[in-house]
Amino acid sequence: MSDSMVTVEQFIAEQEREHPDATGAFTDVLLQMSLAAKIIARSVNKAGLVDILGAAGTDNVHGEEVQKLDEYANDVIVEILGKGGSVCGIASEESERLILIPEGYETGPYVISIDPLDGSSNIDVNISVGTIFSIHRKRSTGRDVQESDVMQLGSEQCAAGYVQYGSSTMLVFTTGAGAHGFTLDPSIGEFLLSHPNMKMPRPGKRIYSINEGYAPKWSDGQRRLVERFRNGEGEEGSFSARYVGSMVADFHRTLLRGGIFMYPGTVDAPGGKLRLLYEVAPLAFVCEQAGGQASDGRHRVLDIEPTELHQRIPAFMGSPELVELAERYLAEG
Ligand code: AHG
Ligand code: MN
Ligand code: MN
Repeated sequence: MSDSMVTVEQFIAEQEREHPDATGAFTDVLLQMSLAAKIIARSVNKAGLVDILGAAGTDNVHGEEVQKLDEYANDVIVEILGKGGSVCGIASEESERLILIPEGYETGPYVISIDPLDGSSNIDVNISVGTIFSIHRKRSTGRDVQESDVMQLGSEQCAAGYVQYGSSTMLVFTTGAGAHGFTLDPSIGEFLLSHPNMKMPRPGKRIYSINEGYAPKWSDGQRRLVERFRNGEGEEGSFSARYVGSMVADFHRTLLRGGIFMYPGTVDAPGGKLRLLYEVAPLAFVCEQAGGQASDGRHRVLDIEPTELHQRIPAFMGSPELVELAERYLAEG
């Protein structure tokens, strides 16, 4: 059977067969995420035709305007995973507190952290958006999830990945055995293996990806780093700039082409904007599995101990040489 005939179901079942002690709960979490992704993709593709564009009229826990599609994507994932019997709780960008499993429904041994809709400011202008997820094994005893179950190291993730709703819909994930990409074939409603064992090209394209509108608020080191890229001053030569403003899309390009994606801290917001648990850590896991590096500018992202559910951290992800270069510039202040 050629790669393009392998469904995500078959791929995950195959991986599970290599673990004879597996109960199937972990497979279920991934399959439920892929079902949620298909349902969200269906709505994203119809945005504009059905009443799903625009603001929902509320702000989320971060004081950001909630879009209808943010809420919709969150509801779909919470409904499918919350009642699917494999997780005992969900941490979501859209919910200040952990989401518990309703009474009467089974719970399972996993916790999932989600950014249901990433890049929501791009929805109304028909630019790629995404979903990000991170799965940990529950540590506490008792039926309900505790914050400590979610606030584990990124290096303890059992699986992590994202869905990109782009010109095609792709699901990319890792369980720690490489990063694999699946493309949704809408005619049969299946994710098919299209990108087995993804590897960030080395040296890869010289692309830097950052919102330069914030340059006046960067540290000196950050400013000098981007000047080096822009002026082609370093031994790496000249660079191109790309910035979608949907992290999933910017990350996916970095994974396939190489380069560096950056969302640094600023004088006003030293932690930047992106959230550790359900944005940066899951992509960092995929990044490393593809041979890249992920840093907050000083430390490996996967070694950062979370202190808050909705904690923000600066993010530098991409080709190892460029992430290390960024760390050197930032260390100089
Ligand atoms: P979200 O839509 O989940 O709140 O995430 C938004 C993000 C991320 O996708 C992107 O990298 C970043 O916001 C862009 O922010 P700026 O507009 O500040 O560059
Ligand atoms: Mn996001
Ligand atoms: Mn979001």
